[in-house]
Amino acid sequence: MHLAALHTPSQIQLNQNNNLKHFLTIEGLSRATLTKILDTAQSFINDQNQLITTPLLEGRTVMNLFFENSTRTRMTFEAAAKRLSANVLNIDIARSSTSKGETLRDTLWNLEAMAADVFVVRHSSSGAAHFIAETVSPNVAIINAGDGRHAHPTQAMLDMLTIRRETAKKFEDISVAIIGDIKHSRVARSDIAALQTLGCRDIRVIAPNTLLPCGFSEYGEGIRLFNKMDQGVQDCDVIITLRIQNERIDSPALSSQAEFYKMYGLNKERLALAKPDCIVMHPGPMNRGVEIDSAIADGPQSAILHQVTNGIAVRMAVLALAMQGQLQEKGLLEAITI
Ligand code: CP
Repeated sequence: MHLAALHTPSQIQLNQNNNLKHFLTIEGLSRATLTKILDTAQSFINDQNQLITTPLLEGRTVMNLFFENSTRTRMTFEAAAKRLSANVLNIDIARSSTSKGETLRDTLWNLEAMAADVFVVRHSSSGAAHFIAETVSPNVAIINAGDGRHAHPTQAMLDMLTIRRETAKKFEDISVAIIGDIKHSRVARSDIAALQTLGCRDIRVIAPNTLLPCGFSEYGEGIRLFNKMDQGVQDCDVIITLRIQNERIDSPALSSQAEFYKMYGLNKERLALAKPDCIVMHPGPMNRGVEIDSAIADGPQSAILHQVTNGIAVRMAVLALAMQGQLQEKGLLEAITI
């Protein structure tokens, strides 16, 4: 699929009033739009740090279309939609008629005919969510829940919410290290785009050359590349560790997992090189003893499970804002007020 042939990200994601109506990628969205998502997500967390429930999407139907496995994203989208009082339908792809030769287009059109308002889509092909947004009726909001190695925008926004809540520092003032398999990671791509848009000026990417994408220097301002982990994590405020995406690697990028742990595993000694209040994040699923030591994953600086909870708030925000954008497009904005 050639993304260049499709509409640019901002054209397709925003309505005529510049409000979100699909959420496919971070690229092309403004700092104001990302901040609105973060502020809306924060509004769904009360003073006791608990998620609220609200009937904002009562009567609306959210369909989860997961063509690739997921634990966190799928469950937190379902939890988010239910906290907004939406009807939630999950298609079981393995038991669907795609196994009888039905095309993706036909599956989508049939699901759309079941009065879907939102499709939450995960797919192993980069560009799948974009393709679906171009294929189905514009009245259905498409939210990308991870497509190939391209983008995972709600993960990026829950990571940004976690950084904002845990560090209480401005994005301009923090140093963020992202460690591991950057080349095959949609999370790394979306995190970097979100950090840049929100004003972060010190993004350190730490990886062996075999796990860096070609043309990495084109990633833009504020990014520094480190092959040596001890140098990269020095005085960081945030460390994001990433799993090696074996399912997307054709030829061996590493000699062994043990070698990777030796060179790039986050352990106590390496974390001690960062700022004393540095937080540790991981999008999951984690491979303990490969990219991160269990003592760090379960330790006092870990924000990993907070990321999961923040994911519900962010996904509530994205569902509500995209639905609001769709209704605004149809002149029905008064139906929802956030
Ligand atoms: N972070 C993430 O996308 O996890 P899942 O694959 O479990 O959804």
